[in-house]
Amino acid sequence: MNRTWALSCCLVAVVGLSGALRAQDKAPVGPSRRQLLEGPQFEGPPVPAPDAFKKLMKSNDAIMSVDAQPGSGGDAAAAGGPSGAQTTFRGTLSENLGAMPDYDKVLMNVATLKMNFAEIESYLTGTLKSPDAIELAKAGTKALLDLEKAATAKDRIGSIRAQIAVAKACRDCHIGHRILVITQPLQFSIVP
Ligand code: HEC
Repeated sequence: MNRTWALSCCLVAVVGLSGALRAQDKAPVGPSRRQLLEGPQFEGPPVPAPDAFKKLMKSNDAIMSVDAQPGSGGDAAAAGGPSGAQTTFRGTLSENLGAMPDYDKVLMNVATLKMNFAEIESYLTGTLKSPDAIELAKAGTKALLDLEKAATAKDRIGSIRAQIAVAKACRDCHIGHRILVITQPLQFSIVP
């Protein structure tokens, strides 16, 4: 074990121990003391997504899967390809950006994603006002414009970079605004 490691393990142990000691001072947080989701970090309570919104997401998913879902794939590492090869997302966009890129098809994918992101943004502006999620939708649109530019210039590396930035916008929004509601069966909702 080198010194830096030993030092950081030691630090982790100290921080962990003081956290444990402090936790004992306080009564456990019971359900009645938990903050409701409409607390200051959110603009309002979660709402189930309308079917049109889910349809948009499924359309996104067919072009580029970003989150591993049982059965639907989406995890970049499991998308196949020889080890050490380019990491790919499942969906048509990665196929179209393969070793022999088909830029016309890439631009068709981009056109669909741009339309989807514009609709997502208008839903978040009009129906379910969420300033934070709007920013993420805008970040996705910006990355799509970069992808469009790179694909038009037949720049494969630039296109793949922009694809990763699009995926980041999808993921950031899922982390911040897609929420599992404890129902039977489990359901997702949007939190503004
Ligand atoms: C601005 C926020 C936002 C962005 C951007 C976004 N998503 Fe979503 N997505 C959501 C939310 C919220 C849900 C949960 C909706 C629900 O209640 O079913 C969701 C659900 C999904 C689902 C599950 C749909 C279903 O019903 O089975 C998939 C797949 C998905 N998103 C893929 C994507 C992909 C791929 C992208 C990017 C190309 C993307 N999303 C961009 C917010 C976003």
